[in-house]
Amino acid sequence: MAAYEYETHDYDVVVVGAGGAGLRATLGMAEQGLRTACVTKVFPTRSHTVAAQGGIAASLGNMGPDSWQWHMYDTVKGSDWLGDTDAMEYLAREAPKAVYELEHYGVPFSRTEEGRIYQRPFGGHTTEFGEGPPVQRTCAAADRTGHAILHTLYGQSLKNNAEFYIEYFAIDLMMSEDGQCTGVVCWKLDDGTIHVFNSKMVVLATGGYGRAYFSATSAHTCTGDGGGMVARAGLPLQDMEFVQFHPTGIYGSGCLITEGARGEGGYLTNSEGERFMERYAPNYKDLAPRDYVSRSMTMEIREGRGVGEHGDHIHLNLSHLPAEALNLRLPGISESAKIFAGVDVTKEPIPVLPTVHYNMGGIPTNYWGEVLNPSKDDPHAVVPGLMAVGEAGCASVHGANRLGSNSLIDLVVFGRAAAIRAGKVVNPETAVPATDTGQVDKALDRFDHFRHADGGTPTAELRLEMQRTMQEDAAVFRTSKTLSEGVKKMDAIAAKLDDLKVTDRSLVWNSDLMETLELTNLMPNALATIAGAEARKESRGAHAHEDFAKRDDENWRVHTVARVDGKSVDLSYRPIIEDPLTTESEGGINLKKIAPKERTF
Ligand code: FUM
Repeated sequence: MAAYEYETHDYDVVVVGAGGAGLRATLGMAEQGLRTACVTKVFPTRSHTVAAQGGIAASLGNMGPDSWQWHMYDTVKGSDWLGDTDAMEYLAREAPKAVYELEHYGVPFSRTEEGRIYQRPFGGHTTEFGEGPPVQRTCAAADRTGHAILHTLYGQSLKNNAEFYIEYFAIDLMMSEDGQCTGVVCWKLDDGTIHVFNSKMVVLATGGYGRAYFSATSAHTCTGDGGGMVARAGLPLQDMEFVQFHPTGIYGSGCLITEGARGEGGYLTNSEGERFMERYAPNYKDLAPRDYVSRSMTMEIREGRGVGEHGDHIHLNLSHLPAEALNLRLPGISESAKIFAGVDVTKEPIPVLPTVHYNMGGIPTNYWGEVLNPSKDDPHAVVPGLMAVGEAGCASVHGANRLGSNSLIDLVVFGRAAAIRAGKVVNPETAVPATDTGQVDKALDRFDHFRHADGGTPTAELRLEMQRTMQEDAAVFRTSKTLSEGVKKMDAIAAKLDDLKVTDRSLVWNSDLMETLELTNLMPNALATIAGAEARKESRGAHAHEDFAKRDDENWRVHTVARVDGKSVDLSYRPIIEDPLTTESEGGINLKKIAPKERTF
């Protein structure tokens, strides 16, 4: 058994991760007087939410008529009818409240002439239940909305006495024999010490796993750490086959160019200078949802109408927009285009390509953020002491495809919901669970094993193999052939975790070891993704299966539940939630409005 000394810490709540969801949960917990710790592997304001550009969706109606029912309809249709209806209602209903709270906390939103929060159009957000023109629903702080939100939430959390443990890497959860989460074991990166956090509630807010792919808009820190820990605890992941490609990653670097660029009037063209989106989505054109636009771009390239020397990308045009508007509304991406593509957006188009951006799947939760461990008898069974929020979780509000700007609102609505729920189920008067030494030893044995790993495969090499395979075989378009080959390749790649080589044995700032632990987290996420994709014999949202080109509601309007044990993935399915929170007579949506139908734009 590995011999490590450790320090223990007792809290009512421990939040792992300090992005938008983690900080909103932390703040909400601390505001209620719960003793709250936030443990994070990066400095809070460097969490990946800082890179969110275009904005946060809420039906404020500042720029024209809007309603939460329209927002809900768009979210249901955006999800390609795979989202859970209760969660989607909760999101759309609570969004305005959550945004006004942010405003009052101090988020510096851009303003209209009248001083209201500025809102821009975004893909898939419409009026009149999809019958009217695009709506301006996305609240923005220029094109640095995530940055503005993150800094405000961090400041507010400190003001409310939340305690931060910064640059602490979560190794594993502690789970009691009766299935309750009792805390988390962490490694402090800057001095090598080990810390055990005992708590009544652990909230996983660890973000997505974009880095399972070769080209992603996600930060290098997006390694699915929550999903990895959950899988090792024997708990499932849900709907992992749905991976969103953002239409406008900069060609080559993958750096994000916000959808807000098209919201402000930008448009895509092919090598013939044609605005091809008019053919694919005659009504909403460049403002169709992301899965739609990414597929259309890919088809243009495949059919020989890509731009550039190799005909392998597309142009995003902004030069027709007034320079003052670009400066006011899109300063960040104007700079990114210059730095990463050498392009002056006032004069030239930006070369772009669909790039991995977001994971619709994640750790299954209800709309309060409580983690679920579904069984046949109880598809909604809650894991006591464990929550997951933000991109790490799957509420499931985005179903098979997320609408742009529904991510930032997901972070704050469900971070806030987790805090509301914790206020009800966490009793500050009861004792914090005692340290489970057996669980600590187990976590530290695994840690020590990788610290001394002396096989023949360097971590960076294996990570690259995984990333290339996922990029090639679980892409925008998938076929039975690519997917079954991908499953086999990923099987072999995962087996090489037993042959890893870590060269640095130290405990202080050992990035070799940290990246190895991150790889062990990425791997179960990647395995669940490709196995779930291979099994799903239909096309829905971001899962575009060329051998099964149609959506099949009769057989596949179900959530995939993936349990990953080592390299084996066990798949089962659970029904989606069709019931809303409120009936029409209680002010809820008319269910006929959200009944499944063909998804056109
Ligand atoms: O395009 C963007 O600004 C990204 C927004 C989002 O993913 O919600």
